[in-house]
Amino acid sequence: MILIEPSILSADLLRLGEQAKEAENAKADGLQIDVMDGEFAPNITFGPDLVRALRSVVKLKLDVHLMINEPERFLIPFADAGADRIIIHEEACTHFYRVLQSIKSLDVEAGVAVNPGTPLEAIHEVLDLVDFVQVMTVSPGFSGQHFIESQLDKVKRLRQTLDEHKLQIPIGVDGGIHLETAPLAVAAGATVLVGGSSIFNDTGSVAENIAALRASITKKQG
Ligand code: DX5
Repeated sequence: MILIEPSILSADLLRLGEQAKEAENAKADGLQIDVMDGEFAPNITFGPDLVRALRSVVKLKLDVHLMINEPERFLIPFADAGADRIIIHEEACTHFYRVLQSIKSLDVEAGVAVNPGTPLEAIHEVLDLVDFVQVMTVSPGFSGQHFIESQLDKVKRLRQTLDEHKLQIPIGVDGGIHLETAPLAVAAGATVLVGGSSIFNDTGSVAENIAALRASITKKQG
């Protein structure tokens, strides 16, 4: 089962509630909220109050991706706001294992995201703790960037590692996921597709774009 999570970074922020509902009505499998602090990622975006607002209008799984330094400072506010999963970066943590334990203690799913330049070895010691691994196929910061093809091999190796350790952990890919790259990511072993500009754009409705993305992977799977 391949899941599709629209990333709200590309949404029309003046109609965010409507677009979130459109995604829910189009049977999206969750919403990814890209939180950035202007330090870990070269952009400043959303906070816990936006998660709270989205929580009040959709029942979708809210996947909060913390692209911020020292994410432990904000676990409770995002969990209290209604996050179902919190994704952090090893690159942003001093005590990576402890931050993941803290997320789990809040009864929130724990995810880790791996930047393009970060080797998988950086997360090997926490695979027993996490519920989700997201391979970044762009460098964090902005939507509409070019898909980094070399990360497909990382997805493949991660899938092999998880299978070897009999770990049933979903693998997400995030960045430049569209009709051409989605099938490649799925073939490599990804089961969660995070789409920003491929879903929120002027060429089609959210429903049309989600349907097209689903079709692109089912067609390829034969
Ligand atoms: C990148 C964000 C991604 C981005 C995806 O900084 O973490 O989620 O919004 O946007 P697209 O799909 O347009 O690359």
